[in-house]
Amino acid sequence: MATNPAAWTADANEALRLSLVRTPEDKAALSTREAYEGFHPTFTYPIFGEDEKIYGYKGLTTDLKFASGSLAQLLTISYSERLPPSAAVDDVEGTLSQFIPPGYDTDPKAFAARVEADAISFKPPGERIYSYSRPARQRGWAPSKGKDRASEPGSLENDEEEDVVEFEVYHSTWSTPGFREYHRRMQLFVLLYIEGASYIQEDEDAWEFAVLYEKRTLKKPDGTSRVTYHFVGYSTLYPFFCFPDRVRLRIAQFLILPPYQQEGHGSALYNALYQHVRRSQHVAELTVEDPAEAFEDLRDRNDLMMLRNEERFMKEAFGDEEEHPDEDTLADVIKGDIGADGGMLRQRRGMLDPPVDKAWAEAWRVELKLAGRQFNRLLEMLQLQRLD
Ligand code: ACO
Repeated sequence: MATNPAAWTADANEALRLSLVRTPEDKAALSTREAYEGFHPTFTYPIFGEDEKIYGYKGLTTDLKFASGSLAQLLTISYSERLPPSAAVDDVEGTLSQFIPPGYDTDPKAFAARVEADAISFKPPGERIYSYSRPARQRGWAPSKGKDRASEPGSLENDEEEDVVEFEVYHSTWSTPGFREYHRRMQLFVLLYIEGASYIQEDEDAWEFAVLYEKRTLKKPDGTSRVTYHFVGYSTLYPFFCFPDRVRLRIAQFLILPPYQQEGHGSALYNALYQHVRRSQHVAELTVEDPAEAFEDLRDRNDLMMLRNEERFMKEAFGDEEEHPDEDTLADVIKGDIGADGGMLRQRRGMLDPPVDKAWAEAWRVELKLAGRQFNRLLEMLQLQRLD
């Protein structure tokens, strides 16, 4: 043990740097605001232990780079000083390598060649179930919080030719060719970003997956173009038997990588899953396992928006004359800003007035394929909104 252990102890979350690497050509097409390299994990305790510390190094950096589409990996470890090997000195590569599949690169040159090759060859495994587009950020888009930029071309800061980035969600299972290997490369992210998460069992056959990609079309000077896909986030889903002959699809893990967070992609992925469930005859309901608070907010916000767009539901719930709740009011309700002591109930006009008609609510819950507890919460939120 060194005389000053603190000097030889690194914060594992700081020491681990993650990057999503594009080819130099693809990178040149991005704006400087699009930083996909050098972000940090939120958690490393599943890997480096409860106190999230790495002992035995000064100036430690553990760089784990992923090819932005294929997620091929490069692991390099650098430090200014290291204590002589002993049981107390952490073996960083040995520890981390237990959580990533073998075959990762350790040579940056070999990895750069892999990034080039994969940019051309990588296509998302599975079946495309959802897509949407956003104006590219390099056009100086001014963020308008909570709004879908695709519907707001006017919010762009300049009038250059519209340049759109597409996003696509692909559904797969273990039997999708190439997906098992792909999942082994992406699953580390759940440990690094979802509290309490662990790897799912590969021998449980029923798992389903939805992966969100950014799809870039790069137009070359010679008039040709090339399409590349870049990993944004994903969700794992497990189907449980639902009497008599359908399944209840449960979201087990759900994440959007930090460079893409707070831009509505989580909402888009959630909506992709919800639309998929609504379309699938064998799925009775979409449920969520142990949601984190941020995910619960996202789910509430999107479920409420979905209800607002169900015209027949809104009409039955609020009656013809009732003004439907606006987005700001709903946002306040989700955040709990409208208290139960908010005032008098407005005049009763619809089915949502307490007590809610149980048979009516259940019929809608079944049609909307929402879980019972969630649907009751949504009804409560809509009722709260009506408190003046
Ligand atoms: N521009 C700016 N802000 C926007 C935009 C936009 N175009 N669109 C939405 N936002 C805002 C939303 O209003 C929301 O604001 P709020 O937090 O004040 O309510 C916020 O951005 C987040 O909404 P999204 O952007 O749709 O969600 P995001 O893509 O950031 O994903 C998530 C949220 C999934 C929780 C992500 O942060 C994440 O992966 N975190 C780490 C892992 C995690 O916690 N996962 C959930 C675990 S629970 C489970 O797995 C079942």
